[in-house]
Amino acid sequence: MIKTAVYPGSFDPITYGHINIIERGMKLFDKIIIAISYNQSDKKSFFSIEERVSIIKKIFKNEKRIAVEPFKGLLVDYVKSKNAEIVLRGLRTVADFEFELQMSLANKKMNSKLETIFMMTEGKYSFLSSSIIKEILSLGGSVRDLVPDVVVEKFNERLRERKTDIVSWE
Ligand code: PNS
Repeated sequence: MIKTAVYPGSFDPITYGHINIIERGMKLFDKIIIAISYNQSDKKSFFSIEERVSIIKKIFKNEKRIAVEPFKGLLVDYVKSKNAEIVLRGLRTVADFEFELQMSLANKKMNSKLETIFMMTEGKYSFLSSSIIKEILSLGGSVRDLVPDVVVEKFNERLRERKTDIVSWE
């Protein structure tokens, strides 16, 4: 039986913290579907859903066991539609725990077959978040070793389109 895990998130943008979880997850699962959420807060996203899909597809273009898809609605419904029963999530610090526990229990309530597997983030990425990346980039700092080059390229492209060098996330 092929073991498929769904790795959901906003990925706005994907960081090496996420990539580290995916790479380690590939040792445990036969296939990982990176599921990018359109959600109510999508309007506040810096990258559109299409951009996020395209960035992540570029990063994993040589990895046949990874699929990248956007999803709408409930995660449990999406996971079921993929005939999967495993959700993979990364945990950075204790601050993540409460939200992750709540989400995994709510998902379990909606689908008792669903299992959420948590992997601890590698220590060197425990401070890293998509919001920190956007803040550093928008203020002209270096994110070397924190995100792949394609993220920085896309970010600068979007800034040029907007003809501004300060970005507001509101
Ligand atoms: O990277 P994030 O923003 O922490 O990911 C959160 C995400 C997308 C996994 C979560 O918000 C989610 O599953 N959204 C889909 C809607 C849903 O199923 N909500 C109920 C979960 S309790």
